[in-house]
Amino acid sequence: MDVNTNTGSTAPSDAGVAARVEAILGGMSLYEKVGQLTQLGLLPNMLGANPEDVIRLGGAGSVLWLTDRKQYNVLQKIAVEESPSKIPLLFALDVIHGYRTVFPTPLALASSWDPSVAERAQTVAAREARAAGLHWTFGPMLDIARDARWGRIVEGAGEDPFLGAAMAAAQVRGFQGDYIGSPEHVLACAKHFAGYGAADGGRDYDPVYLSETQLRNTYFPPFQAAVKANVATFMSAYMDLNDVPATGNRWLLHDVLRGEWGFGGFVVSDAFAVGNLVIQGFARDGRDAAQRALHAGLNMDMASGTYPQHLAGLVEDGSLPMTEIDAAVRPILEMKVRLGLFENPYTDESLLAQVIARPEHRSESRLVAQRSMVLLKNEGGLLPLSKNVSNLAVIGPLADSMEATEGSWMIFDHVPGAVTVLQGLRAKLPGANIQYAPGPQIARDIRSWFDNFTPEENRKPAQAAEQAEAAYQTAIETARGADLVVMVLGENADMAGEAASRASLDLPGRQEELLKAVVALGKPVVLVLLNGRPLSINWAAENVPAILEAWEPGTEGGNAVADILFGDANPGGKLPVSFPRKGSHAPLYYARNLTHSPEGSPMYNPRYWDGLPVPLYPFGFGLSYTSFSITNLQLSAAQVKVGGSLSVTVDVTNTGAVAGDEVVQLYIHQQAGSDSRPMRELRGFERVTLQPGETRSVTLTLGPDELGHWSSSAGKWLQDAEAFDVWVGADSLAELHGGFAVVG
Ligand code: BGC
Repeated sequence: MDVNTNTGSTAPSDAGVAARVEAILGGMSLYEKVGQLTQLGLLPNMLGANPEDVIRLGGAGSVLWLTDRKQYNVLQKIAVEESPSKIPLLFALDVIHGYRTVFPTPLALASSWDPSVAERAQTVAAREARAAGLHWTFGPMLDIARDARWGRIVEGAGEDPFLGAAMAAAQVRGFQGDYIGSPEHVLACAKHFAGYGAADGGRDYDPVYLSETQLRNTYFPPFQAAVKANVATFMSAYMDLNDVPATGNRWLLHDVLRGEWGFGGFVVSDAFAVGNLVIQGFARDGRDAAQRALHAGLNMDMASGTYPQHLAGLVEDGSLPMTEIDAAVRPILEMKVRLGLFENPYTDESLLAQVIARPEHRSESRLVAQRSMVLLKNEGGLLPLSKNVSNLAVIGPLADSMEATEGSWMIFDHVPGAVTVLQGLRAKLPGANIQYAPGPQIARDIRSWFDNFTPEENRKPAQAAEQAEAAYQTAIETARGADLVVMVLGENADMAGEAASRASLDLPGRQEELLKAVVALGKPVVLVLLNGRPLSINWAAENVPAILEAWEPGTEGGNAVADILFGDANPGGKLPVSFPRKGSHAPLYYARNLTHSPEGSPMYNPRYWDGLPVPLYPFGFGLSYTSFSITNLQLSAAQVKVGGSLSVTVDVTNTGAVAGDEVVQLYIHQQAGSDSRPMRELRGFERVTLQPGETRSVTLTLGPDELGHWSSSAGKWLQDAEAFDVWVGADSLAELHGGFAVVG
C-alpha cells in the first residue's frame, strides 16, 4: 500500500490492484464480463427492464440516472451478495456543477480564470455526490466551444485550449482528489471525446469536420490535460467526427487516447451511442455496432443495451476474441478496486443530510460565484451601489427564478434551493423598499426533450399575450416608482445545455424591449445577466451604464450578485469566450490566423459589409472596481533554444482605491514557420489580488509545450526556430509587447 502523504490515507499499489483484477477476472463467466461492460439506464420511465434480475445474474457493471437514492443500497446488495462473482456496481450521474449545493456552471467557473476555484467547487460536488451514494460523475465536460449558438457551451470552459486545459486538470483534481479512491471523492469522466463543440452551425449533435491539426492544437489539449491529471474515465462523443462516429472511432479511442497519451482508465459511450451507430448510418445492425465500438476501444455501453445483446454471441462464434473482452473489462474492475467498493459497497443513507448541511459548502459556493462573475461595463462608476439606496426596483423574468440561478443539468434527483437575485438583494438591504416585477415570461420557441423529466405539475403554462402585456406594463410602472433599477435578464436554464442550441444570440422574448423602455425612464439601471452562453447585447452595451455577467451562478448566486453590486466583493472574472455581436458571426474566437488582408493593412477589406464581426467583448475581458497597470515587460532571454524555456515577467499595480483582482494574461504569436499560426494564443495567466497601491511582479514561463504546435505540413508535433511576439495584459487585446526568437 502507498501512503498518501497529504491525507494519511492509503491507496492500493498498482501491482496489488492488477493482481486483484486478474483474480476477479479469472473467475468470471463471459456473461458477467459483458455485464461489466453494460451500464443500465434507470430513468423512472425506463425501469421496464427489471434491473434486479439483470444485476442478480451479473448482467450490469454500472447504473445511471437512478434518482431514487434508497435503491442504491438495495441494488448494491443484490450485486455483492447474489450475483455470481459478487462484483459491486458503480452508481453514476451527471454531477456537473454541484449536487445539492449548486456551483456556477463550468463556463462560469472558467470565467474565474482561477483553476483553484474550479477545483474547490468540484471537491464539494464530489463530497455531496459520494455521500448520496454515487461513485462516478460524467464531468468535466472538456469540449472547446467557439460557436455560442451551441447550447452546450455552458458546460465547458469556453473557446481556448490553454485555459480549457487548466480548468480540465483542476476539475479532475476536484472530483477525484489526490488519487483515485480518495475518501469523499468520485471518479471523473472527461467528455465528450472529441470535437463535439464544433458541431456544424452550432446545431447540437450535428456532424463535425475538424482537421487533425485543429483537433490536436485546439480540441485535444483539455483532454490530454485530464489524462495527465489521471482522470479515471472518458466518454465518447455522440457525433460523427470526420465521418466516423466518435463511439466507433478507433483512431480516437485507441491510437490517440491509449497509444499516444497512455490513458489507462475506461471509456464509456454517451447515452445510447453504441446503438446509435446504426441510426447514424455507420453500423449495419446492433451486432456490427457492438463489435465496432468494442474494437474501437469503447469499454462500456451506456444504456443502449447493444453490448449485452450482442457481445457474447460475437465471442461465441469466433468474431471477437475473448482477449478484447478481457481488456475492456480490466480497467472497469480496476476502478472498483481502487474505489474500495469490494470492501465498502454501501452508502450510509443518513450521510447526505449531514454533508449538505456543512456551512462551508454554501460559503464555498458564494465565494466561487463571486469569483466567476464578469463586470462588462461600469460607466461613471455606477457600481458599486450605495447601501443607502432606499427605493429599488428589481425587474425581469429571471430576477426571482431559481432555475435560471442554478442553471443547466439540474434534472436528476435535484432539489432546487438557490437564492435568487431578488432574494439576495432583499437580504443585503433589509430596510430598503424593493419592488419586484418580472415582466413577460420567456420561453423556448420549441420545447426541449428534457422537459420530459419535469413533472407535468411543475411545467409552467405558456403566458397568454394579454397577461404578458399586463406584466410588461406593470414592470415599467414598477421601475417608474424607483430611484434605481436592477434588471435581471438573460436565458432560462433550458435555453442552454444539451439540445439547447439557437440561431440567434439576442435576449429572448421581449426582454430588450423592456430594457429599452426602462432605460427611457431616465433612472440609473444596472443589468445583471443570467445566461449560459454569450449574448449579443449590443443595445445594452451602448445604453445601459452597468452590466454584470453573472452566468448561472448556483445556490448562492443571488447573494453573490448582491455582494458584487454593493461592493462587498470586487468582480475579477474575465470572459472565457468572445461575445459576438450577432449569432451569425459565430464561430467567433480570438485565436484566428492572420490573412492577406488583416485589419490595419492597406489592403484591409471588411469581412462582412453589414457589420464588422469584431466581438462586442473580447476573450479575456472583464472590469474591476479598481484599476490596474501592467508594465515593465521583461524576458529572461532574447533567444531560447528549441526545447528550452524562457520566462516573461511584468509588474502589475493596483492603481485604484480598493483591493481587487487582475488576471495577467500572456499571448504569443509565431511570426512565420512551417505553418501559419494564430495571430494570438493564450500561453500563460495568473489571477492576482492586490491592495490599493500594491505592485506585484508576475512571472509566466514559456517552454516547449507552449511554443510548439502540431504541424499540418509536417504531420507531427514540432517547434519551429522562428521569431515570436509576446503580449501581456488584461485581455486578448493586450498591447504591452515584446519579442524573442527560438533558435535551433
Ligand atoms: C449527454 C452526456 C451525459 C449523458 C448521461 C447524454 O445525453 O450527452 O453529457 O453525461 O447523457 O446523462
